[in-house]
Amino acid sequence: MCGIVGFTGKDNALPILLKGLYSLEYRGYDSAGIAAFTKDGLTVVKSRGRIANLEDKIHAEGGITACCGIGHTRWATHGEPSDRNSHPHLGGKGKVAVVHNGIIENYLELRSQLEKHGYVFQSETDTETVAHLVDYLHTGKHEELAMTVLKAIGMLRGSYALGVVSMDDTSEIVAARRDNPLVIGLGDGENMIASDITAIISRTRKYIILDDGEVAIVRPDSVTVMNSFGDIVEKQPQEVNWDLSAAEKGGYEHFMIKEIMEQPQAVSNTIHPRIKDGKVVFEDEGLTDERLANAHHIHIIGCGSALHAGMVGRSIIEKLSRVRCTAWVASEFRYENPIIEPDDLCIVISQSGETADTLAAMRQAKQAGAYTAAIVNVVSSTIAREADGVLYLWAGPEIAVATTKAYSAQLGALYLFAVKLASVRGTITAAQEKTYCDALYAVPKQIEKMLETKGQMQYLATRYANRSSVFYLGRTLDYAAAMEASLKLKEVSYVHSEAYAAGELKHGTISLIEHGTLVVALATQPELYEKTISNIREVASRGAEVILIAGDGFEGDTSCCNYVLHLPKIPPELSASLSIVPLQLLAYYIAVERSCDVDKPRNLAKSVTVE
Ligand code: AGP
Repeated sequence: MCGIVGFTGKDNALPILLKGLYSLEYRGYDSAGIAAFTKDGLTVVKSRGRIANLEDKIHAEGGITACCGIGHTRWATHGEPSDRNSHPHLGGKGKVAVVHNGIIENYLELRSQLEKHGYVFQSETDTETVAHLVDYLHTGKHEELAMTVLKAIGMLRGSYALGVVSMDDTSEIVAARRDNPLVIGLGDGENMIASDITAIISRTRKYIILDDGEVAIVRPDSVTVMNSFGDIVEKQPQEVNWDLSAAEKGGYEHFMIKEIMEQPQAVSNTIHPRIKDGKVVFEDEGLTDERLANAHHIHIIGCGSALHAGMVGRSIIEKLSRVRCTAWVASEFRYENPIIEPDDLCIVISQSGETADTLAAMRQAKQAGAYTAAIVNVVSSTIAREADGVLYLWAGPEIAVATTKAYSAQLGALYLFAVKLASVRGTITAAQEKTYCDALYAVPKQIEKMLETKGQMQYLATRYANRSSVFYLGRTLDYAAAMEASLKLKEVSYVHSEAYAAGELKHGTISLIEHGTLVVALATQPELYEKTISNIREVASRGAEVILIAGDGFEGDTSCCNYVLHLPKIPPELSASLSIVPLQLLAYYIAVERSCDVDKPRNLAKSVTVE
């Protein structure tokens, strides 16, 4: 989704803003722009497409030299991607410039009022309304820009992170937020604003997080934060706890393959510190034994891959503890009017911790009286801060839009939770808990083994990259894993794919199977081996070519399969952690074969901060 960066200091802002924008690329965007105070006034350059286009345009127009400016990567919501609709947007006669992430719901209403006051709109965006509104409220008044912004946001409905500059003070940036992330980087004689830490870390590791309703005045040597009443708020600076190298490719061709290869470490960071003497130990996660013992119904909430991890978790939680558990699509949970009771426990899963639907669903569950525990990767993200308890993944920054290591770490967190819950509820013995813990502890090493399939997956990719449709089949846990494998393929390679419960295909969808259709089947649950192999035969006999990911000890007749990969020995409940690895690699290499923009697939955003 949109990315915001702003800089004020002594150095030339242009390279700093461009570097910031490049580091926000991973969030997904379709155009970019910059506004900066040059000797000619407030100079704005915007361009549809990649940041490189913007850079070319800036240089073609003679470059920019300025000590203060704001930049933006836009992911279109209101109006097509175009130079005109790109941010920054100017207010009034060009005295004010605004960058925005989020959606202003009442923009049409405000727009028509501003038009009555003579404002002429250049774009179809909701953001331009904010620029004109700030100009309207500010013009002729001798008040601080921040006070005007405070008034303006009081008139907005919806969500926003805003960066606002005005010709009144060419070294000041005013920032505001509601339901969209914004951090303020604290430097030495310079300060920054940004949608996330990746955009500031090359200049400073010290930052503060703006909270909902707050407005910040950012100048080269000071940062002042006000609450919605205009009172000064003291903010506690935080330090980034990872290195810049973690957000760089480090010799890999793409972030996606780097992050696939980082999975042993990421999963170990989630699991290892929480296993002690054959037991799962939760310390600061807010998941006390008492809470787990009394949980009546568990609701797991997430979007996309986080939901898929939740589906795997749901299955294991019910299997091990026999506590009723439901996995919810966050955007559906919001409008389904779900039955939530005070003893219910909501597990909210999000890599970014900023996904709008997940955040809204969590707030709803909280309001209904449930205890909310978040499984989150990004430290201090909104979901992490608002949840009652947090289980951090500690997987390190994930840059590729397609999640891999965070998904695997989420599985790890859910396994820990399932084992802990079952132990507290007495549905597994201490000896069983130890067996699960030992197996869980070994998962990172086993993922390392699975990464050795890289060459084989690369070969299969060359063979199957030209297929127009791929089906992923599995039962129970394997079905949940198939959902994730299918999502991986479609998002990075643009190949149509569907995941199906293996027994369900024959109820209609099997009509799509024809000669040469690729089917990837997962059969890792011993009690279902025979059932799944029958389903594989059904598609193979209709001409499908089959790749089978089989559990250890699978002994069925695989003569109808074109390629079979056996997983190493692992308790079947944990198999999803291993089966996904070769399928991530397959998706990656198919995307590479098809010359796709692997790390930034079309239309996608890393962090989906609008509904
Ligand atoms: C996965 O590859 C996708 N990028 C997407 O489905 C993602 O998992 C989803 O948008 C949820 O994001 P979150 O984990 O940051 O909440």
